[in-house]
Amino acid sequence: MPLADLTTVAAPLRAARTGLGAFNVVHLEHGAAFVAAAERAGHPVVLQVSQNAVTFHGALAPIGMATLALARAASVDVVVHLDHADDVDLVREALDLGFTSVMYDGSKLPTEQNVATTAEVVRLAHERGVSVEAELGEVGGKNGVHDPSARTDPGEAAWFVAETGVDLLAVAVGSSHAMTTRGAVLDTELIARIAAAVDVPLVLHGSSGVSDEGMRAAIEAGMTKINVSTHLNKIFTGEVRSVLAENPDLVDSRKWFRPGLDAIGVEVERLLRWYADQ
Ligand code: G3H
Ligand code: ZN
Repeated sequence: MPLADLTTVAAPLRAARTGLGAFNVVHLEHGAAFVAAAERAGHPVVLQVSQNAVTFHGALAPIGMATLALARAASVDVVVHLDHADDVDLVREALDLGFTSVMYDGSKLPTEQNVATTAEVVRLAHERGVSVEAELGEVGGKNGVHDPSARTDPGEAAWFVAETGVDLLAVAVGSSHAMTTRGAVLDTELIARIAAAVDVPLVLHGSSGVSDEGMRAAIEAGMTKINVSTHLNKIFTGEVRSVLAENPDLVDSRKWFRPGLDAIGVEVERLLRWYADQ
């Protein structure tokens, strides 16, 4: 039950047209808060560690091994996923540690190079029974640049999946990374056309910018894995800011960290139910 493979978890959800929440473990404690929320909701969850988070921590192993330990002890299915990796050596390290899913992000590369490297990562990962997510059509928003105009072509998506053998496909349909407001408008008609063209679950990046209703429509149209990070950072930091403002003499970091974790735990539980209980 606990540490689960992404393909196995996502397949029935794709068939049922329900969503799977994927949340970024930025700090070690986030993983525990997300697992507890998933257990309360009674739904599977993806804990993802991004290459950026690895840079922040200085290494993959400490945060990766802690996240794997949380997954193994969980009472619901928990996928441990490497997010937005463009470094194949980091992918290899995640496979060695026991991650059950990796995202190779070659979206900035020319398509031919993206296909070749993604196919190589698929070969490496599938030898270990690990799922691979790839991205076609760069979802904007990294490095502070918001560009929701990128679009994935359904025909090209089908070709990319066939050429590479990926298990999940991240697509550009109107979202943009790192939005702190929820006004992004998704192209649900395009989501439906891509979902009809490819036979693997679709992934939405930059979901923080999408409203609850927009997310429901996207899931109904065929989106499965929903990646959320900035929205939770905003809630966490807002809570910490208000606790510190109300208690200017606080010095014990546990006393302000805990309210932040509790706040994102409540939101993750709500989102997991919202995505899955349609
Ligand atoms: O891969 C992670 C996500 O796409 C998170 O994006 O921070 O805009 O929610 P976000
Ligand atoms: Zn992303």
